[in-house]
Amino acid sequence: MVNAIEMLNNASKGKYAIPQFNINNLEWTKYILEECNELKSPVILGVSEGAAKYMGGFFVVSNMVLGLIKDLGIKIPVALHLDHGSSFLSCKNAIDAGFTSVMIDASNQSIEDNIKINKEVVEYAKIKNVSVEAEIGKIGGTEDDITTTESLAGLDDCILLYNKTNVNFIAPAIGSVHGMHKGPLNLNLNILIEIKKSIDIPLVLHGGTGIPENKIIQCIKNGISKININTELQLEWSKAVRKYLKDNVDVYDPRKIIASGENALKETVKRKVILLNSGNRI
Ligand code: 13P
Repeated sequence: MVNAIEMLNNASKGKYAIPQFNINNLEWTKYILEECNELKSPVILGVSEGAAKYMGGFFVVSNMVLGLIKDLGIKIPVALHLDHGSSFLSCKNAIDAGFTSVMIDASNQSIEDNIKINKEVVEYAKIKNVSVEAEIGKIGGTEDDITTTESLAGLDDCILLYNKTNVNFIAPAIGSVHGMHKGPLNLNLNILIEIKKSIDIPLVLHGGTGIPENKIIQCIKNGISKININTELQLEWSKAVRKYLKDNVDVYDPRKIIASGENALKETVKRKVILLNSGNRI
């Protein structure tokens, strides 16, 4: 496992993006690693605090990923990333358990507090060779329907936070939302262009589900080097499993039930990897 710095710097230079696929269990992790290895694409495995807790904790996740890399003979660079870490302690615990990258999400705090907590996390992460992602502005969820203009990232805040913390990546809120959005999506590319012009570090797009492909490509052209995808994997996997259970009412082996979503999940991963490379590298 590696931190995400080199893979994102290469992506930024080469104008492609690295996918962050969020994981929930052993099987998903295995499928994602196998598919990305097949495609020779570096990958970031995203783990929310909730997903880590569900799987047993940060140590379980870290050792599971290490074990899969070894036993499956995975050759691509893999970063294990805490998604939306909510406190310094949470980031520290993930790092201590072997995570190679963390996001500290203090975007709901004042910019001064966001800077303060980022500084603490960056200081600790640096000693352990771990990369750090910050969020600026507020990226909404489906419950918010769509982000409001007030929650978009401010250019001055991005410059200030970067200069004061030396964080490795910034996820600026540019209008994307987590999950499936109901209304039209208004991505503000101008903000993205301005930020990239002012701070030359890799930028991150959250809420990768449901964004039209041409918009994704525009984002990559204008400075996005990492795209987070979660809900779309869940939708595609569960659709396949639901159909399998309907067609096979007598099956009770959990291995068969979970694996009935393997192809759908791998196909989704493949589609995303190819899109994020815009045909450049694969
Ligand atoms: P989606 O669930 O919209 O794909 O977003 C994932 C994400 O941004 C995780 O941080």
